[in-house]
Formats: sequence, C-alpha cells, structure tokens
Amino acid sequence: MMFTFALLSACLVVSQVSSSLASAGVAFFNPADNGGSMFDNAGNGLGEPLNVIISGLSSPAVLTESGVVNFARAIGFSEECLDIHLGAPQSANLGDGNGFVNQTIELRQDFGNAELGTCLESLIGGNHFRVYVQNGSLADSGALFLAVSQEENVTTGHTIAPDGYDVGRDLLSSAAIGTTSFDGVTYSTTAENITGLMPAGSTGVNHGIAVDGIVTLLTVTIQ
Ligand SMILES: *[C@@H]1O[C@H](CO)[C@@H](O)[C@H](O)[C@H]1NC(C)=O
Ligand SMILES: *[C@@H]1O[C@H](CO)[C@@H](O)[C@H](O)[C@H]1NC(C)=O
Ligand SMILES: *[C@@H]1O[C@H](CO)[C@@H](O)[C@H](O)[C@H]1NC(C)=O
Ligand SMILES: *[C@@H]1O[C@H](CO)[C@@H](O)[C@H](O)[C@H]1NC(C)=O
Repeated sequence: MMFTFALLSACLVVSQVSSSLASAGVAFFNPADNGGSMFDNAGNGLGEPLNVIISGLSSPAVLTESGVVNFARAIGFSEECLDIHLGAPQSANLGDGNGFVNQTIELRQDFGNAELGTCLESLIGGNHFRVYVQNGSLADSGALFLAVSQEENVTTGHTIAPDGYDVGRDLLSSAAIGTTSFDGVTYSTTAENITGLMPAGSTGVNHGIAVDGIVTLLTVTIQ
C-alpha cells in the first residue's frame, strides 16, 4: 500500500514537472535522447531533415497552430494552396513520448500574395515546410520542428531541388531574421546554428539529397 502510494506520488511529481517545462524555459529537447529522430518519415523508409527549430523560448503565442501560420505569413508563406494537392502528410517522432505524429500543417511560400501565392508556388516551385510540435509529456518544450525544403516546379514533378534542404533552411531563416510583421503582429527573430544534433550526409535522407547537418534555431519574440 505504502509502495503504491509512493509510486503514485512520484508519477504526479514527474507529470507536474513535465507540464511546466514549456513555461520553465527550454529551447528544445534532442529527440534522439528518447528514441526520436531529427528526420521525419516520408513513408518510403527515408526522411526529410527537421532543419529549423522554432525555440520553446519564443513567445507562447507563436507556438500554436494559428500563431505559426501568422508568423509564416509575416515571412512570406501561407497555408497550402487547396486546389493543388502535393502528396501525403509525413510524420515525425520528436522523442516526447507521443511517438510518430503527422505534421500539424504544411506551409508554402506565397510569392507576395497570401491568397493566390501558394498556387503559384505549386506551379513554379519554391520553399515549403512541415510543422511538428514537441509537446508530449516526456519532452514538453513546446518547440516547433520544421522540415524545410526548396522544390522545383511542377514540370519537374515537384522534386526537391538539388541541395534543397539546406537551401530551403537558409532562405526561410534569412526571411525570418530581424523584424517582420503580419496582421498587426510584429515579430523580432534571432537565429543560431546548431551542429551535432543532426548527422551530415545523405544516409536515410529522402531523394538521397545530402545535408550539411546544420539545424537553425529561431527564437521568435512578439513585440
Ligand atoms: C497520417 O495521416 C495519414 C493520412 O491521413 C494516415 O493514414 C496515417 O495513419 C497518419 N499517421 C499517423 C502517424 O498518425
Ligand atoms: C521549371 O523548371 C525547369 C527545369 O529547371 C525549367 O526548364 C522550366 O522553365 C521551369 N518552368 C517554370 C514555369 O518555371
Ligand atoms: C500538441 O500539439 C498538437 C498539434 O498542435 C495538438 O494537436 C495537441 O493537442 C498538443 N498536445 C498537447 C498535450 O498540448
Ligand atoms: C547557418 O549556416 C548556414 C550555412 O552555413 C549559413 O548560411 C547561415 O548564415 C548560418 N546562420 C547563422 C544564424 O549563423
């Protein structure tokens, strides 16, 4: 009886600690620490690199589905064009105890027009990303893990451009850094490159495209 009670208290303490981690201020947890990966599952045994992380230290309002959509619009992306569907959702295991979870949302570069631009992107190629949330009880950082890639246009069958993962990451980061705004919300964003979190090379990477192993950590603060 005593033993059961002790176990139960221990569990309660643990869950209280994890549910307060997001507000306790953690940028992110390494998915590999708990069976996850910095590559998502593209459904063919290969994966796309989770090459940008929006830090759990960002303003909480950025780390929600509507929040990241608004931020994405501020840096030139919008929700996927509804008329042209581009493949199945992918899933990722962020080592937070949730196992493999499908992407929350996929956003595409809007080419200067938040309504029609994503349709243009589908025709002429461009940058896009998928969003995964690290919010399971084992690693509740609240961070958003992004699989960013640069695609070629529809005539090339929407393949990822050569070097398209590193290029996509750098284009997204440079659009994000500094001051941006959309719909009355102004963002101040800083970036930091992290090495050693993701392996470099093409092993296991979708389309056999090599990556440089750099993950860019963005901290997005609403002003
Ligand atoms: C992801 O979504 C697809 C299509 O809706 C579904 O078949 C699949 O089971 C989902 N995968 C996960 C890990 O939830
Ligand atoms: C699509 O890409 C191919 C190969 O890079 C290029 O030849 C073609 O002009 C492009 N089409 C459009 C509409 O941009
Ligand atoms: C984690 O994030 C996903 C995607 O936004 C959401 O559906 C889910 O409810 C969240 N889980 C928790 C425990 O907040
Ligand atoms: C991160 O690394 C890429 C590739 O080397 C570079 O282009 C980019 O400027 C770096 N970003 C930061 C914030 O250091």
